[in-house]
Amino acid sequence: MSTSRTYFSRGAIIKDNRPLSFDYVPENLPFREDKLRDLSIKYRPLLFSGIPTNVAITGPVGTGKTVVARRFSQLLKEVAIEAEICIKDVYVNCRQRKTDSMVLLGVVNRFDEHFPDRGFSKQEMLRIIKKHMIKSRCHLLIILDEADVLLKKSGSDLIYSFTRFQEEQDCPFSVSTMLISQKNPLDFLDPSTLSTFKRTNLLRFDKYDREALKGIVEQRIELALYPGSVDPEVPDLIADMSEETGDARFAIELLGRAAEIAEERGEELVTPEHARAAKAYTKPYIYEDIVDSLNIHQQIQLLAAARLLRKKAYTTTGEVEREYSVICEELSKKPLGHTQFWQYLKELDAQGLITTRRSGKGVVGNTTQITIADIPAEEIIRYLENRLLSK
Ligand SMILES: Nc1ncnc2c1ncn2[C@@H]1O[C@H](COP(=O)(O)OP(=O)(O)O)[C@@H](O)[C@H]1O
Ligand SMILES: [Mg+2]
Repeated sequence: MSTSRTYFSRGAIIKDNRPLSFDYVPENLPFREDKLRDLSIKYRPLLFSGIPTNVAITGPVGTGKTVVARRFSQLLKEVAIEAEICIKDVYVNCRQRKTDSMVLLGVVNRFDEHFPDRGFSKQEMLRIIKKHMIKSRCHLLIILDEADVLLKKSGSDLIYSFTRFQEEQDCPFSVSTMLISQKNPLDFLDPSTLSTFKRTNLLRFDKYDREALKGIVEQRIELALYPGSVDPEVPDLIADMSEETGDARFAIELLGRAAEIAEERGEELVTPEHARAAKAYTKPYIYEDIVDSLNIHQQIQLLAAARLLRKKAYTTTGEVEREYSVICEELSKKPLGHTQFWQYLKELDAQGLITTRRSGKGVVGNTTQITIADIPAEEIIRYLENRLLSK
C-alpha cells in the first residue's frame, strides 16, 4: 500500500529543484563574466567614493539581464564591506510596481518592512528614504527591472528625482540606479533625465548562441540533477531547440521539464526523447497538418530519421539515406536518386521538421548531422507508420 511518504519520495534524477526555478541566482554566470566586469567598472565611482552612478541594460528576453543584475548587486555588497562603505541595494520589478508611489514604497520597505502603504506623497517618501539612509549611513543602489513599464506609465520624473537625489534632498549619501529593459530604457527618458545618464553607460546583452546555451544548461544539470542522470547528448539537443530564440530561460525550462517527464515515467536517465517531449509540451501542435502536406518520399525520409533517432540525439544523412531505402523497399517504392533525396531533405529542414548541422566532430567527408528537435521520435513513428504502412 502506498503511504503519503511514497508519493513524495525522491526521484532518481532531480537532486535539488531550486536551481531549476527562474529566480535562482547561480554563483557563476557562464558567458556573462564580461558583463559582470563591465558593471564593476561602471560602478567603481559608487564603490570607492559614493559617487552616484547610473547604468542602463538592454537586450532580448532570456539573455540574463535580471540574473546578472542580481548577481552583480550581491558581489557589489561583498566588496563594499571590504571597502568599508555601506551600499544598500533595492530590486524593484516595475511590472509589479508600475507607479512612482509603488516603486518608492518598495524602496522604503527595504528599510522598514512595516511602513504603511497609504497616505504619503512622493516628496514625503523621498524624505523618509533620506532619513533612513542617514541613519544607516548607506548609499543606495536602486535596480529598476522592466523599467519600460514604469517609464511608459509614469514618465521619467521619479528617475530624475533619484539621479538628483543628493542635491535635492541635501543628503550626504547618494542614490545610484540601474535601469533594465528589453527596449532601450534611455529612449524613454526626457532630455533632462537623459543628461544624467552617460551614453557609454548602456550595456547591450545579445541573444545567447548555441555554445552559451549548452554551457548554461550544463551548469544547471550539475546544480540540480544527480551525476550521470542525463544522456550526454541532451545539452546539445536543448541548445539546438533554444538557439532560435537565444533564450536561456527557455533552455532551462526545457531541461527542468525533460527531467520531470523522465521521473514521471519512472526512468533513471534523461534522454533526447524526454527533451523532445518537453519541447512538444511547450509548443502548440500544428504538426500533423504539416506532415500530411509532405510528399510520400519526404514522409519516408522523416520516418527514417525518426527511427534512427529513437535512442539518440543525432544521426547522419548517410544513415537516413540507408534507412530510407529500407523503408522504400518495405513499401515497394522506387527510392529517389541522391540529388533529389538531398533536395527533399533540405525542404524538411526549411520547414523545421528536422534540423541539420554540419558535423564538427572530425568526421571524414561532408557528414551532416540530423536531429529532430521538436517532437518525440516515437510520436512521429507512430503517426507515419499508421499513414504509410497500413495502406
Ligand atoms: N549566463 C548565465 N548563466 C547561468 N544562468 C543564466 C545565464 N543567463 C541567464 N541565465 C538564467 O536564464 C534565465 C533567464 O535569465 P534572465 O536573467 O531572467 O533573463 P532576462 O532578464 O534577460 O529576461 C534565468 O533562470 C537565469 O538564471
Ligand atoms: Mg528579466
